[in-house]
Amino acid sequence: MSTPASSWLEYNPTTGEPFIRLPSPHTNLILTPPRLGDADANYTTMQDPRVYKTLSGPPFPYLQRHATEWLALIVPQAADALREARAAEAAASAGAPVRVGSCPVRYIREVRADGSDVLLGDIDVHRCAYPDVADVEERLRLAKVNADRELGDPEIDWCIGDCLAAPYHGKGIMTAALAALMEHWLMPRMGVRKIRVETFEGNIGSVRVFEKNGFALEETVHWNLVTNCGVVNTGYHILWWRAP
Ligand SMILES: CC(C)(COP(=O)(O)OP(=O)(O)OC[C@H]1O[C@@H](n2cnc3c(N)ncnc32)[C@H](O)[C@@H]1OP(=O)(O)O)[C@@H](O)C(=O)NCCC(=O)NCCS
Repeated sequence: MSTPASSWLEYNPTTGEPFIRLPSPHTNLILTPPRLGDADANYTTMQDPRVYKTLSGPPFPYLQRHATEWLALIVPQAADALREARAAEAAASAGAPVRVGSCPVRYIREVRADGSDVLLGDIDVHRCAYPDVADVEERLRLAKVNADRELGDPEIDWCIGDCLAAPYHGKGIMTAALAALMEHWLMPRMGVRKIRVETFEGNIGSVRVFEKNGFALEETVHWNLVTNCGVVNTGYHILWWRAP
């Protein structure tokens, strides 16, 4: 497998897969695209109440086919993002400052001594959809305005979704993954200037990950949200990061 020359991403010399490596003390961790073969690991992660009770999106009960269908959706998205990144990198090398609208890497993997890797979690960037806005019409209007903004528009509200398999919680991994993603991709490649995240009220670990990366808790919106798994959440913490 040939390794494309690149300053934007590193590439696995054996598989050609792109990656971003986390800094010390997490240099054994990398961000890569998702793979179709990740379904079993995703399925296992989503069986744990320490994970599914904190999330509003995934179906419940989470079946093996949900993991397979999810990867069938996001693997091509990551491939599109990589194509966009390579085209932008080529244009940038010709002198033009170029922005991309997506990120080709999102899955957090631990690389073992023998070169194999284990899937630990997911960190995803997307345009904000304002799930805390109770008025559905207003929520959809805000999301459309945000989705329609031109690439490079500093007013775009970006959002982060993150999730780690339960055995890896509390080891500083997501804090480091978010820092690396922001430094190596969101700011220099996507020109991200504003990030708005929503976490369920009381998800202290999630709030801390964002605060440790420069986000500020600006608001807590109270409402009773019954998630797919039947948990009643009392509201959302809204945190913002704005470029200095
Ligand atoms: C929330 C989550 C992403 C945090 O990632 P993580 O790698 O475990 O977090 P870190 O180890 O980087 O910890 C960051 C901070 O949060 C604290 N923290 C982590 N988990 C915590 C918990 N359950 N309760 C209280 N504090 C917690 C850590 O102590 C650390 O703070 P400190 O440096 O002040 O001590 C992870 O626990 C997870 O995936 N949970 C399930 C899914 C989820 O909640 N996703 C977020 C949805 S918005």
